[in-house]
Amino acid sequence: MRFTIAIDGPAAAGKGTISKAIAAHFGFAHLDTGLLYRAVGARTLDGTDPIDAAKALTAEDLAAENLRTPEVAQAASRVAVIAEVRAALIDFQRAFAGRAGGAVLDGRDIGTVICPEADAKLYVTASAEVRAERRYLELVGKGHETTRDAVLADVKERDARDAERAEAPMKPAEDAVLIDTSDLAIEAAVQAAIDAVKAQRS
Ligand code: DC
Repeated sequence: MRFTIAIDGPAAAGKGTISKAIAAHFGFAHLDTGLLYRAVGARTLDGTDPIDAAKALTAEDLAAENLRTPEVAQAASRVAVIAEVRAALIDFQRAFAGRAGGAVLDGRDIGTVICPEADAKLYVTASAEVRAERRYLELVGKGHETTRDAVLADVKERDARDAERAEAPMKPAEDAVLIDTSDLAIEAAVQAAIDAVKAQRS
């Protein structure tokens, strides 16, 4: 059985949590495609050319420890504007999407570019302020020193770069179901997402 669920949206909207919960609910495999761009971004921080890094991405790169930092997130967003970087990552993502047993992919361009034929599509979003507050609490919880203003500026900068780039910009697919998690607790957001997938499935 092949079944692909595409989940897109901006940083810290709850995509990751929702994607993992949906994958667990349906028994599908999950790919966080942002991790591919983060791994390429992280390589550029030690001087590697982004296109070379994307073409030669290894399992070791994906397992690197520092991929969840704000610096790597910005580096990921910067390498993600490069057409050759995106092209180098397409085959892996499409092969994953087509795997037997079902797949959930989350990112920015899954429903629009990577899997336009996905069986179900969600676009998970929330206000920049709510997303920044969540990211701020997450970072402080992990021991990072930062401020709410710095995190909000970071979120807005990344949103603008991801949405305004020429190649595969972040945007909802025309047939995606929109889920705004600004006023939703995690459980409610997950339930709304599962219901939306079920509705698109039938
Ligand atoms: O989802 P994330 O925050 O881990 O993604 C990091 C960056 O990678 C994001 O700012 C833009 C880029 N990205 C992308 O361009 N396309 C994707 N499908 C996933 C991520």
